[in-house]
Amino acid sequence: MNSSSSIAAIDAGNPSPTQLDAWKTLSDAARRLANTPVSELYRADPQRFTRFSLSHDGLVADFSKQRIDGAVLDALLRLAEEAGVADAVRALFNGAPLNFTENRPALHMALRGSATVPAADAAQLADSLERMRALARALRAGEVYGASGKVIRRVINLGIGGSDFGPRVAFEALRDPLSPAPLAVDFVASIDRHALAAALAHADPHSTLFIVSSKSFSTPETLANAEAARAWLRAELGQEADLSAHFAAVSNHRQRAIELGISATRVLTLPEWVGGRYSVWSAVGLPLLIAIGEEDFDAFLAGARSMDEHFRTAPAASNLPLLMGLIGLWNINFLDCDSLSVLPYAHGLSNFPAWLQQLDMESNGKRRRRDGGEVDTDTAPIVFGLPGTVGQHTFHQLLYQGTRRIAADFIVPVRSEDPRSEALMNSALAQSLAMMEGCSLEAARDKLLAAGQTADEAQRLAPHLVCPGNLPSTTLLLPGLTPRALGQLFALYEHKIFVQGWIWGINSFDQYGVELGKEMARQMHTSTAQLPHPATAGLLEAIQRIRKTYR
Ligand code: F6P
Repeated sequence: MNSSSSIAAIDAGNPSPTQLDAWKTLSDAARRLANTPVSELYRADPQRFTRFSLSHDGLVADFSKQRIDGAVLDALLRLAEEAGVADAVRALFNGAPLNFTENRPALHMALRGSATVPAADAAQLADSLERMRALARALRAGEVYGASGKVIRRVINLGIGGSDFGPRVAFEALRDPLSPAPLAVDFVASIDRHALAAALAHADPHSTLFIVSSKSFSTPETLANAEAARAWLRAELGQEADLSAHFAAVSNHRQRAIELGISATRVLTLPEWVGGRYSVWSAVGLPLLIAIGEEDFDAFLAGARSMDEHFRTAPAASNLPLLMGLIGLWNINFLDCDSLSVLPYAHGLSNFPAWLQQLDMESNGKRRRRDGGEVDTDTAPIVFGLPGTVGQHTFHQLLYQGTRRIAADFIVPVRSEDPRSEALMNSALAQSLAMMEGCSLEAARDKLLAAGQTADEAQRLAPHLVCPGNLPSTTLLLPGLTPRALGQLFALYEHKIFVQGWIWGINSFDQYGVELGKEMARQMHTSTAQLPHPATAGLLEAIQRIRKTYR
C-alpha cells in the first residue's frame, strides 16, 4: 500500500476508537480485572515476567507489573489492528502527510537513515548535515577562532523547547563528567536574564561561540537571548569586533538567521518536516555533536535506527513501541490512570522527564480528531518525574498513598557492579515492586508490632501505613547509558506516542495550543492603544505597586 492510499483508507472511516469492537472487549476486561490486583495475578502466574517482558537490541521492557493479562493484551493488539496502526506506521515511514493540519510528513526518522529524504530537500539537508559535522570537527580540533584570534573553547546553545531539550538531555546523559572535554557546552533556554547570566559567568567572550537554535527563528525567548549574547560580546570585545565569528545558527528560516547577522556559512538548516520536539537528530543536535564527537553521535543515530527498524518490522506481539503505546492507552482510557511518572534511575537523565513532557504532552495533548470532531476519550497523560532516587524523596508519597492512580515508567541503565550503582538499581526494582504490592492493614500492623509498638499503638497507626498498591509500572532496562541505548530510548518514546496519537485519531505533530499563549504574549508587548483585559490590568497594577514598594 502506498502512503497516500493508506491515509485515504484510514480517513474514509475515521472511527473513534471507542466505536471499535476491541474497545468494548477492553471495557469488559477492565471491569473483569477491577478487583484483581496485579500482585494477585503475579501470585497466580509466577511466570509473568517471562510472558510479559520483551527485549530488543539489549533493551529489556518488563510489562509484567502492568495490570494486564493475556486476554487484555490480545484485545489491545486487536485494537491496534482495527485502528489500522500497521498501515499508519507504513504511512509514517513513507512520508505521508500525517501532520494533516500543516499538510506535511513527520520524517524525523529520515535523519537517522530510516526513511527516504524527499528529493526536493535532499541536497540542502545533506549540505547542512555535512557543514554541521565539519563545524563540530573543527571546534573539537581547536581550529575555530573568535574575533580576536583566540580558539573557541565554549559553546552556548540558545534555544527552547525542541531546540533545547533533545541536545541538552542527550548531552547530560552522554558526557563523561570525569574526563576533560575538548569544549565546554552549555544550554540556555529561558528568557529570564539570570539563565544567560549563569552561562556567561564562566565564559570568556574571546573564546565563546553561541548557537542560535530555532526552527522558526521567531521564538521570543531565543531571539532575546541572542540579542543579549550579542550585547555581551560587543561590550567585551569592542565595537569593531567581527561578532559573526562567535555565532552559528540552526533554523528552517535561513534568511531570518542571516538577517540577524549570522554568517550564511554558519547557518545550518533543518527541513520543515522535522518537528521541533523530534529534531535532535538534525542540525539541532549540533551542541551534542560538538560535545560527544562523531563516533558517539553516529552511535546515537544508530540506536534510534535500530528502534525504527524494530518498530517497522517486528510482529505486533513483540513490538516494543507498539506495546508501550497500547499499555499506556489501557492505563489512561480503561484504568483511570491519567498521569505517568517517569523515573530514570540515572543522574545523567535528570532532565529526561522534561524532554518527555514536551514530546508526549505537546504531541498528544490534543482534543480534535482528524475530521475536526472532538475526541471522546482522554488523550495524552500528564507526564511528570524526577531522577531516582530524588523522586522517591519528593512525590512518591502521593504515588503510594494519594487518591489518584498513577502509572510509572522506571528507566534503569544497567551499570558496572560498584556498590552505589547497585544501590541505585536496587532502589528502582524495590520501588516498582512496592508500587505493585503496596502494604495491607495486616502487614502494617505486623510491621509495627515487630518494631516494638504495643498492640494498641499498632492498631491505631496501622491504617496510616497502608498503601493500596496495584499501581501499574513498566521497567525499562538499558544496556548502560550509552549513545546507542539513548538513541533507542528516545526513538522508543517517539514511536510509542505516535501509536497512541494514531489510535486517538489526533495529530501528534502540530502544536496550535502553544501558539495561543505566544500570540497573547505578543499582544501584551505590542498593544499600547488597547486597554488590557481587566484580568491582566489588575495584575499589571499589582506589579507596579510591588515595584514601587519593594524596589
Ligand atoms: O513551545 C512551542 C514550540 O513551538 C515548540 O514546539 C518548539 O520546540 C519550541 O516552541 C521552539 O521553537 P523554535 O525552534 O521555532 O524556536
